[in-house]
Amino acid sequence: MENQSEIFDSITHSELVTPKMTNSMGTLFGGDLLAHADKAAYVCARRYCKQTCVTASFDQVSFLGPVHIDELITYHARIIHVGKSSMLVEINVYAENLKKDEVRKVSTCFATMVAIKDGMPVEVPRMKCETIDECRDRLMGDTRRKLAKEYAQRISSAESNILNLDNDELEKMVNGLA
Ligand SMILES: CC(C)(COP(=O)(O)OP(=O)(O)OC[C@H]1O[C@@H](n2cnc3c(N)ncnc32)[C@H](O)[C@@H]1OP(=O)(O)O)[C@@H](O)C(=O)NCCC(=O)NCCS
Repeated sequence: MENQSEIFDSITHSELVTPKMTNSMGTLFGGDLLAHADKAAYVCARRYCKQTCVTASFDQVSFLGPVHIDELITYHARIIHVGKSSMLVEINVYAENLKKDEVRKVSTCFATMVAIKDGMPVEVPRMKCETIDECRDRLMGDTRRKLAKEYAQRISSAESNILNLDNDELEKMVNGLA
């Protein structure tokens, strides 16, 4: 494993919004933002673990406001949790109106990247936890990761319960919906 002090766990990437990135209202496509967020998460994870990585999931994507042509969009990605082979990356996205020196947060999302070697998940360096801030970040990342797993399991079990309902039970439950 590398020396922890040499491992960078965040990256920042900026890009000017051009007409080809926007819809008919002149605002950025959500998919374009996500493609860049995915790349920022990839670079962040790749640099951290020094292995090729794949995106296992993208969670809790929020678009907080539109981004316009000729604004500078900045992606800030940082690792907030490290498992055995996975890295949870938080991506915060900011738009800057260059005429007004005005910066606003326009999106947040979370990507789970998995390090791959010879086609298989491979162990990544453990996250450092030396300062209070690093320990707080680590605890928050760990909590987020556990809750996300729990949530995914609850949805999956609720869906299988619905699939197992007979017609009468299904009708009764649908009638009880608001
Ligand atoms: C991600 C992938 C490598 C996981 O492979 P797998 O055989 O399920 O491997 P494992 O079960 O050992 O999981 C490996 C790690 O990934 C995590 N993981 C797997 N699927 C996940 C998911 N859907 N969401 C979050 N984490 C996930 C596991 O929790 C595990 O983490 P850990 O090692 O830190 O404990 C595999 O599903 C894959 O290649 N997916 C396609 C990736 C891709 O092509 N992405 C781009 C799509 S366009």
